[in-house]
Amino acid sequence: MDIEAIKKERQNWLQWKNIAPLRERLKLLPQIDAKVSLGDVITIEAEVDEKKKEFVKTTAWAMRPWRKGPFEVLDTFIDSEWRSYIKYNLLRPFMNLEGKDVADVGCNNGYYMFRMLEFQPLSITGFDPSPLFKTQFDFINHFIEADITYELLGVEHLPYYPKKFDVIFCLGVLYHRSDPVAMLKWLKAGLKEGGEIFLDSFYIEGEEPVALCPAKTYSKIANVHFVPTIAALKNWSQKAGLEFEMLKTMQTTTNEQRKTPWILGESLEDFLDPSDPTKTVEGYPAPKRVYVRLRRMR
Ligand SMILES: C[S@@+](CC[C@H](N)C(=O)[O-])C[C@H]1O[C@@H](n2cnc3c(N)ncnc32)[C@H](O)[C@@H]1O
Repeated sequence: MDIEAIKKERQNWLQWKNIAPLRERLKLLPQIDAKVSLGDVITIEAEVDEKKKEFVKTTAWAMRPWRKGPFEVLDTFIDSEWRSYIKYNLLRPFMNLEGKDVADVGCNNGYYMFRMLEFQPLSITGFDPSPLFKTQFDFINHFIEADITYELLGVEHLPYYPKKFDVIFCLGVLYHRSDPVAMLKWLKAGLKEGGEIFLDSFYIEGEEPVALCPAKTYSKIANVHFVPTIAALKNWSQKAGLEFEMLKTMQTTTNEQRKTPWILGESLEDFLDPSDPTKTVEGYPAPKRVYVRLRRMR
């Protein structure tokens, strides 16, 4: 696979007609020396006039939907659909990133990558094939100016990517894949010797190593192929040659994922059965996530 050719081809995606005007706006953002704080709300502050603030606000608004965040940029609070600090803070105690080459696969707008700067990794590389999310990343990073590489590539490109990683995060991607074992093998191929993967997935309760195969949608999400039990996820990992360590489980609540003005359309409150919030509107078990650490089998 010719990664350079794919990257070059995908640069053209930034010229799609919904994306190109946003890219033009990026060029007009104010050049400022910003004060950045990388807490639960990633905050960018600076003394600038109202006109510049308004431009920043209308630019962020034009980039909706904001799934991950929140961010506060020159007094504009981007109240993203997800309070992504809940997932980040859950994984943070397990992270050892100092001096490491780190990848975030399915990095969206880079919220977690910005948070990871606190550990001073050697490098951070994000993979996500969405030109909109890359544009949101470029908007935020215009102010933060972090040395982060964002590739418009997917998990399927990892085995062919020239760099290998000490730590790979792959959160919220597995259940979107029709061949989860193949995906786990691709992640393994992206690891350096002794490296580790942090992964999360929707899961269903049960002792049996089985998976739910949603008919059309799961929680109104269209492309969910398999929702495994933890036992099934462990078996998939082992088939991919990965040691499995369970870290945490958590039910997704409307405190973490909810409708805000910064998304378009519905959110968790619309995805659950109004008469029984333990079920999705399709009658499946409501979303719960399992967080795991995976290492190459010795
Ligand atoms: C459910 S979101 C998860 C975002 C984030 N990792 C998190 O857990 O909060 C899935 C992300 O995967 C990205 N994605 C889509 N296709 C992908 C692929 N082939 N490889 C990696 N990521 C992909 C989407 O653009 C989206 O940002």
